Amino acid sequence: MKKTILLIMISVLLAACGNTDKSAAGDSENTGNKKEEKVLEMATSADFAPFESRNPSGDIVGFDIDLANYIASELGYELKITDMKFDGLVGALQNDRVDMVLAGMSATEKRDKNVDFSTPYNHSGEMFVTLKGSDIKTVEDLKGKKVGTQLGTIQQEGAEKIKKEIVDFQLKTVDDGPILIQELLSNRIDVAYMDKAVADGYIKEQNLTGFADPTSSSPGMAVAFPEGSDLVEKVNEVLKKAEENGKLQKLKDKWLKNK
Ligand code: ARG
Repeated sequence: MKKTILLIMISVLLAACGNTDKSAAGDSENTGNKKEEKVLEMATSADFAPFESRNPSGDIVGFDIDLANYIASELGYELKITDMKFDGLVGALQNDRVDMVLAGMSATEKRDKNVDFSTPYNHSGEMFVTLKGSDIKTVEDLKGKKVGTQLGTIQQEGAEKIKKEIVDFQLKTVDDGPILIQELLSNRIDVAYMDKAVADGYIKEQNLTGFADPTSSSPGMAVAFPEGSDLVEKVNEVLKKAEENGKLQKLKDKWLKNK
């Protein structure tokens, strides 16, 4: 009995050692005569439709997922996707746990200090989403209201800035996108402050309303990598190609077109 446990422990240990080579995807080519699959490990936060979300069967789908698959196939990799909280993505790159992140992530200067970004592949804006019939129609109307954002996003930062510099309100952060809308629908917040493309979807789906934020302009969304990754240039080339051959536009038409 003890022997079996010992054997199991040894094999678990061996398996763990074998796994420590979580180096960049580019390194995992042929080793000796055993041909390994070239795997590109990507992380996302599948709570951000139409960029990434779970469909009814539980698969992660969206603009970023199609784009990531295109990138992987252009570079000859098999794509593996890990789902995590948005707030943990930069850390996952910093610890080299994944090769890249596509999560509608805006290429902010602050993040750029800790990760590398590709050229931007999409530009969005910010929106204040409310229930229909709400008396909040301008930024000034936010005074004293409850505003919700997603943790770790530029919207959280933006809301903090508006609160400090323009109009005072209560700020509530949640760590999951759809929960924000639940909070709004159940009157626990008065306004959800979120990405415009994402907001457009909820406004239609849940019969909500809202107005664009005139105070901010966010940087474009880009693919993020661990600092110094040699994938940056390769992915930039794929993005350039996708721009030129119309692939990027096709994906935008498929996922981001309003209506
Ligand atoms: N664009 C915003 C940012 O970079 C929000 C992204 C949220 N993405 C997500 N998958 N939940 O901060």
